[in-house]
Amino acid sequence: MKKYNVGIIGATGMVGQRFALLLHDHPWFNVTALAASASSAGKKYEDAIGSRWAMKEEIPANLKDMLVYDAQKDIDTIVSKVDFVFCAVNMKKDEIKALEETYAKRECPVISNNSAHRFTPDVPMIIPEVNPHHCEIIEAQKKRLGTKKGFIAVKSNCSLQSYVPALYPLDKFGVDKCLVCTYQAISGAGKTFDRWPEMVDNVIPYIGGEEEKSEKEPLKIWGEIKDGEIVSADSPKFTAQCLRVPVSDGHMAAVYVSFKNKPSKEEILNCWKEFSGEPQQLKLPHAPEQFLHYYTEDDQPQTKLCRDVEGGMAVHVGRLREDTQYDYKFVCCSHNTLRGAAGGAVLLAELLAAKGYMD
Ligand SMILES: NC(=O)c1ccc[n+]([C@@H]2O[C@H](COP(=O)([O-])OP(=O)(O)OC[C@H]3O[C@@H](n4cnc5c(N)ncnc54)[C@H](OP(=O)(O)O)[C@@H]3O)[C@@H](O)[C@H]2O)c1
Repeated sequence: MKKYNVGIIGATGMVGQRFALLLHDHPWFNVTALAASASSAGKKYEDAIGSRWAMKEEIPANLKDMLVYDAQKDIDTIVSKVDFVFCAVNMKKDEIKALEETYAKRECPVISNNSAHRFTPDVPMIIPEVNPHHCEIIEAQKKRLGTKKGFIAVKSNCSLQSYVPALYPLDKFGVDKCLVCTYQAISGAGKTFDRWPEMVDNVIPYIGGEEEKSEKEPLKIWGEIKDGEIVSADSPKFTAQCLRVPVSDGHMAAVYVSFKNKPSKEEILNCWKEFSGEPQQLKLPHAPEQFLHYYTEDDQPQTKLCRDVEGGMAVHVGRLREDTQYDYKFVCCSHNTLRGAAGGAVLLAELLAAKGYMD
C-alpha cells in the first residue's frame, strides 16, 4: 500500500489528540498537517495543546514541534500538503458543513467525526464492518460537488457504536424494535475529571441531542442507496435514553430487542461469533481480529476491563437473556474515542484507501 499524507483538522481537541496517537506511526498514513482554530494557529502542537493533553501516552515526538495551521485561513497550504484530512472540530453546525465542503471542493477528501453532514443524503455514514457498501454513494456526491476526488464521508455518533454492531448481524431475524439506555463516558464531551469535577460521584441524565442521534442514525446505517441518495430505513424502531456517567472512557449500553422472527439464544450467539466484515477480510491495520467479543460471565463486559481490548476497536457484549416484555436483553460496550470516534474514522479511511477512493 502506498503512503498517503494526511491532515488532522481539530488536532488539539480530545478526538484530535486520539488521531495524533493513532496516526503518528500509521503504516499507510503520514501526518503532514495539523490544524485547529485561530487561537492555536502558528504555535507548535505541544504549545497549542498546553495543559489540555488528555491522553495517557506522551504527545508523539514527531508531531510535538509541528506548527499548527488555522483550519479556515490556511486551507491552501493544508490541501497542498495532504492527500486527505480527518476532521473533528467544535464549531457551529453550519460552519462545519461549510468548512468540510470547502475541503472536499478543493479535491481533499474529508473523513469526519462531526455530526454536521450525517444527514446530507449523499454523504455516507459508515461503520466499516456494518455498511461498507454505502461508500458507493460517493460517486453521486462527487457529481453534486463537481469534484474528481474530493468528497465527505462520516462516521456515526459514538453512542451507537456498541449496539448497532451487535444488532446488525441479527437482521436476518427481522430486528423489529429496540429500547436502549446508554451510560456514556465524560471524554465523549471532550472532558477529563480535572476539567469536569462536577462529574465525580455524579450522573447527569441528559446529553444534548444524543437521544435523537441514537434513535435516528441507526436508520441511515440500515438505509438503502436509491437515485443518488441514502434513504433511511423505517425499521427497526429505536427509543433511547442517554446518561452521562463518571467514567473516563467507554460507552456502555443496556439493550432490549424484539424480532419479527424470534431467534434462539444459540442462534444469536452464533451470529455474533461469526460476524466479521470487510475490514477483517481486507486485514485493514486498525481492524480488530474479532469484531464482537461475547462474555459469558454475569459481571462482564466492564467498561474499564474491556475498552482497550484489540486497540479499543472491538465491541463487547454480554448478559444475553430473555426479557419479560421484549424478546431479549443484553449489555454492550465500546471505547468512545477509539472505536466511537478517531479509531472508527481511521478504520473508515483505511477502508476507503483500500478501495481506491483516496487516489
Ligand atoms: N469526544 C468524543 O468522544 C466524540 C465522539 C464522536 C464525535 N465527536 C465530535 O468530534 C468533534 C470534536 O470533539 P472533541 O471532543 O474533540 O472537541 P474538543 O476537545 O472541544 O476540540 C475541538 C477542536 O476544534 C477546534 N476548533 C474550535 N473552533 C475552531 C475553529 N473556528 N476553526 C478550526 N478549529 C476549531 C479546537 O481548536 P482550538 O484548540 O484551537 O480551540 C479543537 O481542536 C465534535 O464535533 C464532536 O461532536 C466527539
